Amino acid sequence: MKLNTVILAAGKGTRMHSLDENKSKCSFEIFHKPLILYVLDAVNELKPDRNVVVVGRGAEELTKIVYGRALTVEQKHQLGTADALKAGISKLDKEEGTTVVLNGDSPLIRGETLQKAYEFHKENHSKLTIITATLNEKNAYGRIKRLPNGQVEKIIETKDLKDDELNLNEINSGIYFIDNEVLYKEIDLIEPKNAQHEYYLTDIVGLAIKDGYKVCAYTIEDAKEIGGVNDRIDLMKAFEYLKVRINTNHLLNGVTIFDINNTYIGPDVKISSDVEIYPNTWILGQSTILPNNIIGPNSYLENVRIGESNHILSCHIVDTKIGYHNELGPYVRMRGGCIIEDHCRVGNFVELKNVHLHDGVKSAHLTYLGDSELGDNTNVGCGVITANYDGANKFHTIIGKNVFLGSNATLIAPIEVHDDAFVAAGSTITSEVLSNDLAIARARQVNKKGYAKVLRDKAKEKKNS
Ligand code: UD1
Ligand code: MG
Repeated sequence: MKLNTVILAAGKGTRMHSLDENKSKCSFEIFHKPLILYVLDAVNELKPDRNVVVVGRGAEELTKIVYGRALTVEQKHQLGTADALKAGISKLDKEEGTTVVLNGDSPLIRGETLQKAYEFHKENHSKLTIITATLNEKNAYGRIKRLPNGQVEKIIETKDLKDDELNLNEINSGIYFIDNEVLYKEIDLIEPKNAQHEYYLTDIVGLAIKDGYKVCAYTIEDAKEIGGVNDRIDLMKAFEYLKVRINTNHLLNGVTIFDINNTYIGPDVKISSDVEIYPNTWILGQSTILPNNIIGPNSYLENVRIGESNHILSCHIVDTKIGYHNELGPYVRMRGGCIIEDHCRVGNFVELKNVHLHDGVKSAHLTYLGDSELGDNTNVGCGVITANYDGANKFHTIIGKNVFLGSNATLIAPIEVHDDAFVAAGSTITSEVLSNDLAIARARQVNKKGYAKVLRDKAKEKKNS
């Protein structure tokens, strides 16, 4: 018995009003993660044999996004969800088992809910199970119509609702567990007889019932979990919902979050307990944060690995690995594969790009370091710059241990300053500095006795002439 999934993601996404004709609705992102990947993550908790994604508008981009995680098949013309599923199952063998069908625009469904629904489907020997929920506000979902005995009768799309049907408040999630025998038999019988002249997958329910198959609804508590993203308002609502759900999970696991509404943590971020997060902080991508860190307020972290007991205040840190007991911020930018080891101090308008700071390095004010490595306990004075770019190429700067770089020193890469060297403030360093040497590279000072007054008098004379 096989379990396969088909995710429908070929739609035109007209209601998103995107100017980009090559953009699929399912490649829109929440927390920098495309909607379709949320759905794939959830279905993977069912441990399926195969996942198929049906692509159409924006096929190229979507195919790249799901590469390695699902097979893709193109639906040439967007004739409706039943037609899309037909394209999807063309990638599968007609084998015994169950096909789970989901919409690629519904990212909020949880793997756990899918597992429970699948258990329900099997326990009830159902041939077709639909996930449903009750929603009393105005909405555009398909409605479940039940017989007086409570059995599901059919699904009616909003545009086709008539008379009393307008009061139906049980909605269709677009998620179905379908026995393959039923699927292959009924899918070809669906006709585009509806307000939109589309092949509606929802019609499979009425057809299966007519043929005597057992159809069940698995009704979940929280209608928001099956929310679809059809326009930008839905996208915003899905973002809000995910944000609170993710933050709530972290809170329950022992992370301190002071403001649940103004803290933004991506779905794949791992945070240990005893981390404190202050408001207006974003943590995205594949980030891992170990205990006893204090993060924020006002920080943006993406793809970071953070050891223990750091203090990160008002920082923008991307693609960076940070060790233990560092004081970072306020106003630091780190990017391009930085490594910050332990007990460092970086802050007050310092930018680091592809920099490796060994233990105890201090760079506390107004500095740019790029493509550089700095040894243990080196001190970087205010305004130090590594000039790593000649307009075409990038070059490396290597600074040893216990080096003192005076304020406003400019180091023209490629360059090396060895252990225990001292670079005088204001120097422009163009050649290697050996261990224990002092390098001074600036014009010698000349003081002209009383000449300030001469200059001022000349200036006044010019103004009055
Ligand atoms: C669909 C359901 C509706 C349900 C809702 C749940 C139908 C007819 N209606 O409506 O009952 O309440 O989902 O969110 O199924 N797609 C294709 N090819 C097509 C058309 C659509 O692949 O030709 C894909 C879309 O990319 C999307 C999914 O199918 O991911 C659903 O299509 P959409 O147009 O969003 O249907 P809804 O109006 O949301
Ligand atoms: Mg939809």
